[in-house]
Amino acid sequence: MKDSLLDKMTRDFEVSVKQMRQIKAAMGKEMDAGLCGGKSSLAMLQAYCDAASGKEKGFYPALDLGGTNFRVMMVKIFGGGRKPKVVAEAKYKLTREQISGAGDVLFGAIAGYLKKFMKENKFTAEYGMGYTFSFPVKLLGIDEGILMRWTKDFSATGVVGKKVVELQRQAMAALGLNNVNVVALANDTVGTLQTQAVVDPNCVMGVILGTGFNICVRVASRRIRKGVGKYHGKCMIINMEAGNFNKALPLTAYDRQLDKESGNRGGQLAEKMISGKYLPQLVRLIVVDLVKKEKLFAGRVPEIFRHKDTFQAFYMDVLESGSEKEVGKLAKQIFGRVLTVEERLVLVLVCHAIARRSARIAAALISGALTRVEKRSKNKVAVAIDGSLFEKYPGYHRMLEEAISEIEGVKGKGISLKLTKDGSGIGAAVIAAVVSKAD
Ligand code: GLC
Repeated sequence: MKDSLLDKMTRDFEVSVKQMRQIKAAMGKEMDAGLCGGKSSLAMLQAYCDAASGKEKGFYPALDLGGTNFRVMMVKIFGGGRKPKVVAEAKYKLTREQISGAGDVLFGAIAGYLKKFMKENKFTAEYGMGYTFSFPVKLLGIDEGILMRWTKDFSATGVVGKKVVELQRQAMAALGLNNVNVVALANDTVGTLQTQAVVDPNCVMGVILGTGFNICVRVASRRIRKGVGKYHGKCMIINMEAGNFNKALPLTAYDRQLDKESGNRGGQLAEKMISGKYLPQLVRLIVVDLVKKEKLFAGRVPEIFRHKDTFQAFYMDVLESGSEKEVGKLAKQIFGRVLTVEERLVLVLVCHAIARRSARIAAALISGALTRVEKRSKNKVAVAIDGSLFEKYPGYHRMLEEAISEIEGVKGKGISLKLTKDGSGIGAAVIAAVVSKAD
C-alpha cells in the first residue's frame, strides 16, 4: 500500500507544542468568560462545595450515573486523611430503553436498583446519600440541579430543564424507599477531586478521561462573578464541562465528519477528539477512507467498521499493545480472520495517532485549567484522574505527562497526575459527608 494517505493522516493528527500552548491560552480565556457568565464554550458550573478536608467520617451510600453502567455503593469514610473504603457495591447495565425512553423509566429503574441493593445488604438505618450525575447539570445548591442537556448518547425524555433530584426522589418515594435521602448532587469530575482530596491536601483538580472527558477545578469564590447563592466558602469547585471546549482545536476532516454524524452536532468538540466514546469512531472513519482510497483490507470495508458504534475502545488497546496471541484472537473475533502484517501495522499506526492526539489535547486543556486554580498549599498541585482511557490505554499516562512537560517547558513543574480509581462513586459519598458535617 502506498503510504501517502497514512502519512498525511499521521501528520494531521500530530499536535505541536505551539498548538498545545495556543489551546492552553484559549482555555484560560474561556474559563474567565464562563466564570463571569459571559459567552463561553465552558459552562463553568458551580458545585457548591470546596475540597474535602479529610476529617469527614461515617457511612454514606452513593449512586453513580454517567454511562450505561450504573453503580450503587456504600462507602465507609474514616476521617484522619485515610482512604475511604467501598464496603458494598453493585453494578447494573442500563438498557437502551432506560437511557433513551421516558425519564420516569430511567429514574424508576435507578430507584429499583437502589432499593434492591439496600435490602440485599440489610442497610436499614437512615442515610444521607451522594448522587453522581455525570452530565451538564446546573446546580441550584448542593442537593438539587437542572439538567441542561444530555451528553454521551443519553436522551431520556422529559428530563432536560427539570430538577433531577426531585425526579429521583419521586421515583424512590413511589417504591417506598424512605430511609435514604439525596443530600448531595455532583458531577463525576467533582467526585474524583473529592476522593483524592481526602488523602491528598494538594488536590485541586479532577479530570475524567474515560467514555467522556471533563475537568473540574477549585477556584476562589470571589472570581465566580455569576454568583454563589447562599454558599459561604472562600473557594468553590467548578464543573467546567470541558468536553464542550471548542477553541483553537486542530480539527481534521475526520473530526468534522464524526461531528456531523453525531447526535449533538457542534457540541462537545473537545470530548469528540479526546474521549473513549469517540476515539474508536475516528479509527473507523480513517480505516474506511484507507479502504476506499488505498485498498486496505483488499478494498472491502470489514463488517465491524460498517456501523458507527461496533468498534470499541478496548479493541484499540489490544491492537496497539496486545501480544501476538491476543491480537490474533481479537482479529478472528472482529474480522473473522487473522490480519496481514500490513493491515496490523496500519491499524496500530492509526490507533496510536488518535490516542496520542487525545493525550496532547487533554494535556493542553489541563495545563490551561491549572492557570486558574486556587492551590491549597505551596506544594505541588495534584490532579486526580479517573477513567478507563487514562487507567488502561497503553502509554496514555506517559503521553499525557510528557505533553504537559513540553507545554510547561520544565519537567513535571510541580504537577502530579494521580490515578483515582472509582473516584466518581466514592466522591459522591465524600460530598455527602462534607455536607452532613456542615449541617
Ligand atoms: C460528559 C458530561 C460531563 C462528564 C463527562 C465525563 O462530558 O457532559 O458532565 O463529567 O462526560 O463523564
